[in-house]
Amino acid sequence: MGVASLTLLCLVAAAAAGMASSAPGAGPRVPPPLPVLPIPNAAQLAWQRREVIMFFHFGMNTFTDSEWGTGAEDPSMFAPAALNATQWMDAASAAGASLAILVAKHHDGFCLWPSAYTAHSVRASPFHNGAGDVVREFTDAAHARGIDAGLYLSPWDRHDARYGREVEYNEYYLAQLHELLTRYGKVSEIWFDGAKGKNATNMTYHFQEWFQTVRQLQSSINIFSDAGPDVRWVGDEQGFAGATCWSTVNRSMITIGATGIEKYLNNGDPRGTDWVPPECDVSIRPGWFWHKNETAKPRSKLLEIYYNSVGRNCVLLLNVPPNSTGLVDARDIARLREFRATVTRIFATDLAAGSTARASSERGAGFAAGNVLLDDAGETYWAPTAEDGRRNGYWIELRRPAATRARAFNVVRIQEHVVLGQRVERHEVYVDGVAVVANGTTVGHKRLHRLPVAVAGKTVRIWFVARRGVPLVSAVGLHLDPFATNVM
Ligand SMILES: *[C@@H]1O[C@H](CO)[C@@H](O)[C@H](O)[C@H]1NC(C)=O
Ligand SMILES: *[C@@H]1O[C@H](CO)[C@@H](O)[C@H](O)[C@H]1NC(C)=O
Ligand SMILES: *[C@@H]1O[C@H](CO)[C@@H](O)[C@H](O)[C@H]1NC(C)=O
Ligand SMILES: *[C@@H]1O[C@H](CO)[C@@H](O)[C@H](O)[C@H]1NC(C)=O
Ligand SMILES: *[C@@H]1O[C@H](CO)[C@@H](O)[C@H](O)[C@H]1NC(C)=O
Ligand SMILES: *[C@@H]1O[C@H](CO)[C@@H](O)[C@H](O)[C@H]1NC(C)=O
Ligand SMILES: *[C@@H]1O[C@H](CO)[C@@H](O)[C@H](O)[C@H]1NC(C)=O
Repeated sequence: MGVASLTLLCLVAAAAAGMASSAPGAGPRVPPPLPVLPIPNAAQLAWQRREVIMFFHFGMNTFTDSEWGTGAEDPSMFAPAALNATQWMDAASAAGASLAILVAKHHDGFCLWPSAYTAHSVRASPFHNGAGDVVREFTDAAHARGIDAGLYLSPWDRHDARYGREVEYNEYYLAQLHELLTRYGKVSEIWFDGAKGKNATNMTYHFQEWFQTVRQLQSSINIFSDAGPDVRWVGDEQGFAGATCWSTVNRSMITIGATGIEKYLNNGDPRGTDWVPPECDVSIRPGWFWHKNETAKPRSKLLEIYYNSVGRNCVLLLNVPPNSTGLVDARDIARLREFRATVTRIFATDLAAGSTARASSERGAGFAAGNVLLDDAGETYWAPTAEDGRRNGYWIELRRPAATRARAFNVVRIQEHVVLGQRVERHEVYVDGVAVVANGTTVGHKRLHRLPVAVAGKTVRIWFVARRGVPLVSAVGLHLDPFATNVM
């Protein structure tokens, strides 16, 4: 490692600890505040910063025009003429996704890789004359593009005769997990759902055995299910998190696949003892699988989903289904490009840039209010002293430069330093001291407020009205979404 990169590393480490470099002889630094538990682990933090990830539903259903196969499908129907997983990665890149998750087996039980434990797989299909392996092509294409790979293996299996025989089926499932997590290099996320056939009442999924095996085989993976352990389902398939959205829950209160847990998953639990942030799964089309008669959602809908997922402390898992040729429809890729270009356009310009920042208090050198304006990937943050809460409360204020204060904004972005726990319970945004332009409950990794009308003004002040511990804010931004209604 060169001196330059070593220096960079030290700077990053210093920034991560909340310390700005100070002049020699300036005296001891103030240490960062204590975390408010629970806090994310390193893999969860890396996952949160992805913001948008991609899902690919492809399989027997693609060829039978269905969403849920019966398991009785003839493998000879699986015949993509020109499958090109590199082209799928064009779709992931177009959306700005750093992780792509493939459905390796859906409820119909057909395996997209040549599993040694069943005959119901690509091996029995015309695809590459039975020598094909979609999981291999997918993971190779992803890794070649620098995109991380994830996999979904449906617990519900409507084909396999062992399904319904508890031990035998769990052994089969675990053996397949072994194949998927040892043959294809690094797998960054594994996806479990709780779907279960009503006819197999005796089928109990051994999630604990599965989770621990996954961890044994891929130590830095994120495990997704209704109950985590690393990432949880958001409780709907519309891509909308709750307006209140905590990364914390009590895992012990969630039964995977149970009904009635949706609201708890949607909102999280301010007193939750486990850090299990939500992932918002939604399809770009009406169905999860490709159907000739369906088309992608319009940009306005995708943007609404973005504001209600990424803008509510979640990661957006956007599904794009490859068609029966084995390609993502070029129109869907175009829509993803348009969506990403729009997000980039909205957030590339920060109308808070050049502001001076002040706050109810500052913890000390390295925790200045101005840290919220630094474009440093959230490494630094503003921290107040603990005393504000006993006096007039916690706030941070941006005074916009004369040159830009007439420029209107209609999006307010607030980001918490969740490294030390999610804290904000309620907050209010004021412009020029009088009008509350936005208010809400949680903030988390990122909170985006869309204002009903665009506003201009000299000062923007955010009050942290209620919180678990002192608020720690890594970023505040003001943006103009030209596609919103009511923009002047
Ligand atoms: C597969 O897709 C990639 C990316 O779009 C493209 O560059 C490549 O030519 C395609 N391969 C074939 C065989 O069509
Ligand atoms: C349950 O079994 C019945 C009778 O065999 C069958 O008609 C039905 O499709 C099955 N349902 C599911 C969800 O597998
Ligand atoms: C479930 O298990 C019970 C007891 O082992 C057995 O009597 C019953 O037939 C099983 N039901 C099904 C649907 O397999
Ligand atoms: C979650 O667990 C904590 C700690 O035991 C408890 O205080 C809290 O009430 C629980 N949440 C709910 C919704 O019961
Ligand atoms: C498209 O066709 C599929 C299968 O025939 C059907 O289930 C689905 O509802 C249709 N979608 C729309 C939007 O009509
Ligand atoms: C799948 O998408 C590709 C790219 O747009 C297109 O060339 C092909 O015709 C499509 N296949 C079907 C069956 O629609
Ligand atoms: C936001 O303001 C409205 C109107 O004053 C109020 O009804 C609502 O309770 C506030 N919400 C929060 C989370 O403070």
